[in-house]
Amino acid sequence: MRWFGIVVALIAIGMPAGARAEYKTIDDLAKAYSSDTCKGCHAKVHEDWKSSFHSQSIVHSLGGIRNFIAVGLKQEWKQPVSKAHLMRCMACHAPMLKDATEGLAKQVAGLIVTAVDEKNEGKKAAARAELAKLNVNCVVCHNMMVNVEKNLSGGPKPGVYYGPSGGQSPAHKTEQSPVVSTALFCGQCHGIHVPPDGDAIVCNTLYGSYQDAYRGNGGSETCQDCHMKAKGRGHRFPGAYETDIVKDGIGLDLQATAIRLHPGKWLPTAVVNVGLINRAGHRIPDG
Ligand code: HEC
Ligand code: HEC
Ligand code: HEC
Ligand code: HEC
Ligand code: HEC
Repeated sequence: MRWFGIVVALIAIGMPAGARAEYKTIDDLAKAYSSDTCKGCHAKVHEDWKSSFHSQSIVHSLGGIRNFIAVGLKQEWKQPVSKAHLMRCMACHAPMLKDATEGLAKQVAGLIVTAVDEKNEGKKAAARAELAKLNVNCVVCHNMMVNVEKNLSGGPKPGVYYGPSGGQSPAHKTEQSPVVSTALFCGQCHGIHVPPDGDAIVCNTLYGSYQDAYRGNGGSETCQDCHMKAKGRGHRFPGAYETDIVKDGIGLDLQATAIRLHPGKWLPTAVVNVGLINRAGHRIPDG
């Protein structure tokens, strides 16, 4: 039975340590990445996150994702829905779908179309409720996305939660991660995405504008400084939909100068320059 040994050896090489199973149902996938257990100890963080757009990262963008599936893929590219195609969007909108089976990925794509197009309100709401289980949650940010140099250090370890201080916890392993507090961490999703086929997905270009227009001109704050640390914003991640931070982004520059029109003769004339200044760390609006 020598062939048997060879098959086993190949399987062992093909499955890197820590690779997760492929999940066949939304509930199994959502459970594997669940944030529910974090609530008990990190109550405030959980409450803030729940009210953020990260907790609604499929359902808040449904219309556009439906168009990609029903119009882009189907009508323009004339291609069937596949997991690889869906990941063009889900790499950022619900990264845990990388662990879905091909069948589950197709089911999710179907639910996205149903949640927009379905005439029966009950069925539409049910599809939306299923999709709401997949989002950018605690495990996505504190495990999946922390290691930006996967080739060098082998990727995040399963079951370890990486944070800015790595404070010890009786409930789970923690590790300190300098990456979590950098703009690059956010830039993985808030910028241009390159899927495995080398294409460029331009959903938003904010990280590019942060680097070129803000850092390039001497700006020194990180995304976390303005969106989390300032005014105790924490895990709510306010953006374009919250007046408080929108106001922070718009500066008013008033300059009034009395001018002299003729030599030797002052005229009570004034030139008032009103300037709108962008104080955000990037172009607004995003897109
Ligand atoms: C690089 C990560 C990334 C990829 C890949 C990505 N998105 Fe997004 N998407 C985002 C982020 C981040 C936002 C929120 C941006 C903002 O509000 O400035 C967003 C927002 C959206 C919105 C909402 C826009 C709004 O006005 O609220 C839609 C719709 C959307 N994406 C659709 C898609 C579709 C369709 C795909 C696949 C073809 C896709 N995205 C791929 C990261 C991504
Ligand atoms: C979009 C990514 C993202 C999501 C989602 C997210 N976090 Fe965080 N979290 C961060 C970042 C970034 C920091 C570090 C901020 C800094 O630089 O101090 C942080 C900090 C923390 C900290 C340490 C300090 C603090 O702010 O309390 C804890 C604990 C934490 N997160 C737990 C959670 C839990 C629990 C959830 C889910 C309910 C969650 N995080 C969801 C990005 C995220
Ligand atoms: C039984 C309580 C308990 C549960 C449940 C729990 N944690 Fe923690 N966690 C802690 C304690 C205590 C610390 C260390 C003190 C601190 O940093 O808040 C910690 C630290 C962390 C840190 C590191 C923070 C830093 O500053 O580096 C992260 C990230 C984190 N937890 C994420 C999670 C996530 C994600 C979940 C759910 C999957 C979770 N925790 C569930 C108690 C818990
Ligand atoms: C795994 C991908 C991912 C990571 C990492 C991530 N985000 Fe997001 N973020 C998203 C997506 C997707 C949305 C849009 C959700 C929606 O509205 O549909 C979003 C929405 C937001 C919004 C709200 C946008 C608005 O229009 O109001 C802000 C602000 C934001 N993110 C900031 C951050 C910051 C700061 C970090 C880093 C600490 C970060 N995000 C990390 C994917 C991510
Ligand atoms: C100097 C402070 C500052 C820095 C640095 C900063 N932001 Fe912002 N950001 C703002 C302000 C203020 C707004 C609200 C302006 C508006 O949308 O009108 C905003 C808006 C946003 C939005 C919503 C944009 C839209 O129009 O949909 C997202 C998403 C976002 N920021 C993410 C990030 C990310 C990711 C980084 C780091 C790469 C970052 N921000 C760095 C201040 C900052």
